[in-house]
Amino acid sequence: MEKLLSYLEQNKDRYLTELKEWLAIPSISTSKENAGDVKRCAEWTANHMKKIGLQNVKIFPTAGHPIVYSDWLNAPGKPTVLLYGHYDVQPPEPLELWTTPPFQADIRDGKLYARGSADDKGQVFIHLKSLEAYLKNVGSLPVNIKLLIEGEEEIGSEHLAGFVKENKQLLKADLVLISDSSMFAKGIPSICYSLRGLAYMQIDLVGPNKDLHSGSFGGTVHNPIQALTEIIAQLHDKNGRITIPGFYDDVRPLSKKEREAFKKLPWSDKKYAKELGVKELYGEKGYTSLERVWARPTLECNGIWGGFTGEGAKTVLPSKASAKISMRIVPDQTSAKIAKLFTNHIKKIAPKTVSVTVRDLHGGEPAITPIDSPGVMAAVAALEKGFGKKPLYQREGGSIPIVVQFKQMLGLDTVLLGFGLPDENAHAPDEFLNLDNFFGGIRTSLHFFNELPNYMNGASKKKTAAPKKPKAGKAKAKKR
Ligand code: BES
Ligand code: MN
Ligand code: MN
Repeated sequence: MEKLLSYLEQNKDRYLTELKEWLAIPSISTSKENAGDVKRCAEWTANHMKKIGLQNVKIFPTAGHPIVYSDWLNAPGKPTVLLYGHYDVQPPEPLELWTTPPFQADIRDGKLYARGSADDKGQVFIHLKSLEAYLKNVGSLPVNIKLLIEGEEEIGSEHLAGFVKENKQLLKADLVLISDSSMFAKGIPSICYSLRGLAYMQIDLVGPNKDLHSGSFGGTVHNPIQALTEIIAQLHDKNGRITIPGFYDDVRPLSKKEREAFKKLPWSDKKYAKELGVKELYGEKGYTSLERVWARPTLECNGIWGGFTGEGAKTVLPSKASAKISMRIVPDQTSAKIAKLFTNHIKKIAPKTVSVTVRDLHGGEPAITPIDSPGVMAAVAALEKGFGKKPLYQREGGSIPIVVQFKQMLGLDTVLLGFGLPDENAHAPDEFLNLDNFFGGIRTSLHFFNELPNYMNGASKKKTAAPKKPKAGKAKAKKR
C-alpha cells in the first residue's frame, strides 16, 4: 500500500492532465450534434482502459450511445467487483454563466472546473487511477474487476437495461461499486444507502387552432398558458403536499430510528438557504429538509414554454403551451404507477377549454441498499483510511435507476461510494470537483480493493460472509 500511495503522490500532475483531456470531449448525450463526440469519448475511455492495463476492452454499440466494457479477472478465488459509471455529461448551457469554458478544464482554488468533473468522469477516473497504480506497480489487483461505463446515464440509460439483461454472464460479479454521488459535506465522507427514483412527464396543451391577436380575441378564449399554470398551481396544496390522488399510497414512512439518525447529522437550514440565495425554504410540512430531499417524494416543474418569449413585446394569445414535470419518488412507489396517476389526474383537472396530451418521457425506480453488506463494510474501512475520518450514512435525493436493475437482473447489491460534494454544481454552470476529494477518492479506492477480500471470504461462493464489522460514524442511520 505504501508503494501505491507514493506512486499516487508522484503522479498527481499527470493524473490531472489526463483527466483534463477526457473532460475536453463534449460527450453530451442528449444532443444529437454531439453524437460524434460521445462516440469519441467512448473510444478515449476504451483506449485509456487499455493503457492502464485493463483487459478485454470492448466498445459495445447500442441503438443509442456505446457502452464501454473492460475487465481484469486474474485473481481466482477473490471477489469480483462490477464498477459502473458514465462518461456522458449534461449540456453545459447557459454558457455565459461559466467562469471558464466548460470543456477546457481549469483548476482554481483546489477545484477542477469542467462539465463532467464531478458527474461523473472525475469520479470514474478516481477508480481508473487506483487500478492503474496496482497494475503498474504490483502487476495485479487484490480483486477481480469488471468495468461498465455507459454513455446514456444522463438521458435515462435507455439501452443499458437491455444490455445487462443480454449479458448476464459477462457481468456476473459479487457486488456493484458506483461513485456517482456526493459526500455529506467537505471533510465528511459518507456511504449512501438510498436514492430516489424518477417519473418524468410532459404536458402539452392546445387551445385555439392558431395564435390569435390578444386584443381581438382576448376575453373569449382560454389562454393555454393560463390554463397550464392553473393546472400546475393545483399540483401542490398549501402544506406543500402533492395533490394527485393516491400519490402517497405506497410511500414507506420514515422510521423513528431513521428520523433520529437524520437529526444527528450536522445541518443548518439557515446556512443552506443562504448558500442557495433564497429568503426562506419551501417544502412539505412536517418534515425536515433532509427528510424532504432524501426520503419524501416531490414534484417539480422543470420547464414551461409557450407564446412569445423574445425581446420586446408582442400581443398574442398563443395556441399552445407546454411544461416538463418530473416527480422524484421513494420506496415503495414505482415510476409506472406514478406516471399513470399523474396522467389521469392532469386529464381530469384540465379545463374543457383546451385539449391536453400527457407524455411519459422516462422513469427510474428508487433504491435502498443494505448498509451492512461486506462491500459496505469494506467501503467504511476504506473511507476511514482514505479521508482519515469515519464515514456517516446518508441517503441522496438524486437517481441512478440502474441500481435497482442490477439487483433485479444480476442479484447484486450496490455500494454507493460518492466523492462529489453537494455544492459542486452538477448539471449547472461552473461544475467542479474538489481535488482533495479526487485524491482522497483515489486513496479510498486503493484501500477498498485491498480491504474487500477481507470482508468477503470466498465471496464468489458465500455472499454473506462478513468477518469484521468496523464501527461506523456515530451518526449512523440504520436501514429499516
Ligand atoms: N450522478 C447523478 C445521480 C445523483 C445525483 C446521485 C445526486 C446522487 C445525488 C446522475 O448522473 C443523474 O443526474 N441522474 C439523473 C437520472 C435521470 C436522468 C434518470 C437524475 O438524478 O436526475
Ligand atoms: Mn452521474
Ligand atoms: Mn447527472
